[in-house]
Amino acid sequence: MSVNNGAARPQKTIAMLGKHWSRQSLNTAKLGGIVHLMTRRNFLGTAIAGGATVLAGGTVFQKLALAVTTSPSQSTFQLGGDLSVNRLGFGAMRLTGGGIWGWPPDRENAKKVLHRALDLGVNLIDTADAYGPETDELLIAEALYPYPKGLVIATKGGLTRPGPGSWVPDCRPERLSQCVDKSLKRLKLERIDVYQLHTVDKKVPIEESVGALKKAQDAGKIRHVGLSNVTTQEIERAKKVMPIVSIQNRYNLTDRESEDVLSYCEKEKMGFLPWAPVGGSGRGSLTKSGNPLEEEAKRHNVSAVQLALAWLLQKSPVMLPIPGTSSLTHLEENMAAAKLQLTPDDWKRIDGALKG
Ligand SMILES: NC(=O)c1ccc[n+]([C@@H]2O[C@H](COP(=O)([O-])OP(=O)(O)OC[C@H]3O[C@@H](n4cnc5c(N)ncnc54)[C@H](OP(=O)(O)O)[C@@H]3O)[C@@H](O)[C@H]2O)c1
Repeated sequence: MSVNNGAARPQKTIAMLGKHWSRQSLNTAKLGGIVHLMTRRNFLGTAIAGGATVLAGGTVFQKLALAVTTSPSQSTFQLGGDLSVNRLGFGAMRLTGGGIWGWPPDRENAKKVLHRALDLGVNLIDTADAYGPETDELLIAEALYPYPKGLVIATKGGLTRPGPGSWVPDCRPERLSQCVDKSLKRLKLERIDVYQLHTVDKKVPIEESVGALKKAQDAGKIRHVGLSNVTTQEIERAKKVMPIVSIQNRYNLTDRESEDVLSYCEKEKMGFLPWAPVGGSGRGSLTKSGNPLEEEAKRHNVSAVQLALAWLLQKSPVMLPIPGTSSLTHLEENMAAAKLQLTPDDWKRIDGALKG
């Protein structure tokens, strides 16, 4: 596991008989209650083929094996029933200029971040026509087209951008139809895997906005439709028009206002993409020093951001976090969080830290 902030360094090595192990899969350890996981595929493949004989650290390994086989955090999710995505995705919104406006200051670095995300196992990228606007989708195509098989790009439409930091809804059906066509062109796609209604426009009934997306789906331009920034009532209304496969609302350890929507997604087996999964960039973000997770994170030799992401992944099997970053170092750190497993005691202490 590669973690560039100095956190989460593996401490022990577990060796196995009769099987060739990669360096990464050997570098697993249990640190202060949090188990650092080898990949589920490596473990299961080896356990089945090699009988999982343990040379060293038997006790640790048994605990580890238990955690791996039961770990929800390493799993995939079937988005819409037919798109298999690794649950820890990537939000591309931060690959723009300040105020989510224009091209990123270092375009080459932004492209490297996208490539590295894929190297690290991301196959779900979230974007929107409003990011830049337009530049985010253009950047994704510039960096990654022709796309590797299995990459799911989830874009959105329904917000206009009068200027940096400014977001104004316009979900009229005629406009949304044009938005779909323009996103298809910018992303160089014949069909968009997941198209999300970015918000609900109070001036337009959600049925009408979603109706435009249904038409686009019927025309073969969209595979699946998701919603963003919605209530359970709005989801119910939209579902009367067409199937909805995912919801994207703000949600993280310190903001659980959408708990009811998350529960709804669990019940309906819809994907839930929490935006601002590590608290975004503002004051109170879990990325800032002085955040309530800091002490608990230090205790485990991981970062608060990693703890927050591991918590999300373990919170629900429908959770598909899309942390955003423009930094290769932060990306590496964030992706390593998929390898952390929180114990019930860790869970209690985190809750305590938040209350405290
Ligand atoms: N549907 C919606 O209305 C909506 C709204 C907002 C966002 N989104 C989507 O959700 C995604 C995530 O949301 P978000 O970007 O607002 O919030 P976030 O992922 O919680 O936080 C991103 C912020 O945290 C910083 N960061 C990330 N990893 C870090 C690390 N390991 N250490 C320190 N700082 C770190 C980033 O700065 P650096 O660049 O310096 O790493 C950035 O400022 C977006 O990319 C976008 O795709 C959707």
